[in-house]
Amino acid sequence: MNVLILGSGGREHAIAWKVAQSSILTKLYVAPGNAGTAAIAENVALDVMDFKAVAQFALDNDIKIVVVGPEAPLVEGIADYFESDDSLSHICVIGPNKVGAQLEGSKEFAKEFMRRHQIPTARYKSFTRENAKDARAFLEGMKAPYVIKADGLAAGKGVIITEDIEEAVTTVNNMLVDKVFGDAGSTVVIEEFLKGIEVSMFVITDGRSYKILPEAKDYKRIGEGDTGPNTGGMGAISPVPFVNPEFMEKVKNHVIIPTIKGLNADDISYKGFIFFGLMKVQGDPYVIEYNCRLGDPETEVILPRIKSDLLHFFEGIATDTLSECDLEIDDRTATTVILASGGYPASYEKGKAITMSNEKNKSIVYHAGTKLDGDKVLTNGGRVMAVTSMGADMEEALEKSYATIDAVQFDGKYFRKDIGFDLRKVQTTK
Ligand code: AMP
Ligand code: GLY
Repeated sequence: MNVLILGSGGREHAIAWKVAQSSILTKLYVAPGNAGTAAIAENVALDVMDFKAVAQFALDNDIKIVVVGPEAPLVEGIADYFESDDSLSHICVIGPNKVGAQLEGSKEFAKEFMRRHQIPTARYKSFTRENAKDARAFLEGMKAPYVIKADGLAAGKGVIITEDIEEAVTTVNNMLVDKVFGDAGSTVVIEEFLKGIEVSMFVITDGRSYKILPEAKDYKRIGEGDTGPNTGGMGAISPVPFVNPEFMEKVKNHVIIPTIKGLNADDISYKGFIFFGLMKVQGDPYVIEYNCRLGDPETEVILPRIKSDLLHFFEGIATDTLSECDLEIDDRTATTVILASGGYPASYEKGKAITMSNEKNKSIVYHAGTKLDGDKVLTNGGRVMAVTSMGADMEEALEKSYATIDAVQFDGKYFRKDIGFDLRKVQTTK
């Protein structure tokens, strides 16, 4: 069967790499893709937000499955677009419809969903312009640090955490009154700060049955020791040592199952991935956020650990037979280290030539912000590549990733040398 993947990051290269290995794949397209996907699939110059153009391409190329990498097209209703048109409804979109995508697209929707279905999450209250003046009293009733979230999609910048109550009040006003995040900040969620350790969990679901994919921990800050500004992610590790069987049982019973049941109870049909951003607080899981897609760079460590044919799972979603698919996981550890452009996440230059001196490296080099210029590969984004390796343990895998990184050169190459640093200290029983 023919498959179209939407997106252009490391996550999409990893999905393409996995689907390209499928025994039931005929032809693979990625739109718009990057220099990495161009080597294993056909890149198509489509705007993923132009649903009409995506649909026309899918019809013209006999596409059976459209895998949506990023959240924006899902929140804008790409799945609904395909479902509601008789000429397109035979094409299965992997990704929820607009209502399901609200789990990521609206923090208030997600919080209300969790409250309704008793899914553990931080205590919260939401505010709009009308009750903005009550925010101070609510904040005064909480302990610092204060967590303030713009309701809508804000390119990963909509969460502000501060120790200072005056800054908290100003932040709320900036969002609600001065509209610094535009409509994404018309509603603001203020919530309790959860102190613990974060982990990302994923399921793939057809709305009724689900498979739990490997978990991962990502490293969001630009600087070593988790310092400096947030980024799209500087590295990831899977499995995560503190996710022991006891914690996993809690996640399943208190988070995953109630989420799937909640979607059914609310009559939300959901086909695709659910990403649970969890905080482990004194041994118990709390949901910090839902995403309606796979994570980046988490995908670059979870897909290499899946031994089964991913396209079988997508087909299982299309034909309501996901429950019959077997998920086989590789026990080894996968690590990924992101190569970024110097200056990221602030301003950085693009168009630097990338060279790799050792073709026989022991890693999988997923491209993120890269593009082809003739036969040259150029940097084309803040996060340039994700260097993934497998090993018997984290150390072995990281050693391979860092050895490969030594062989990749471009002007301004930056990476964190301490991916996994915190996991060495964490007791598996914590
Ligand atoms: P989000 O955009 O929802 O992923 O939030 C960004 C980051 O803020 C998360 O990855 C957490 O590190 C942190 N965060 C969000 N909500 C909370 C909370 N209630 N308590 C502590 N940290 C939080
Ligand atoms: N790595 C976090 C995310 O994809 O949102």
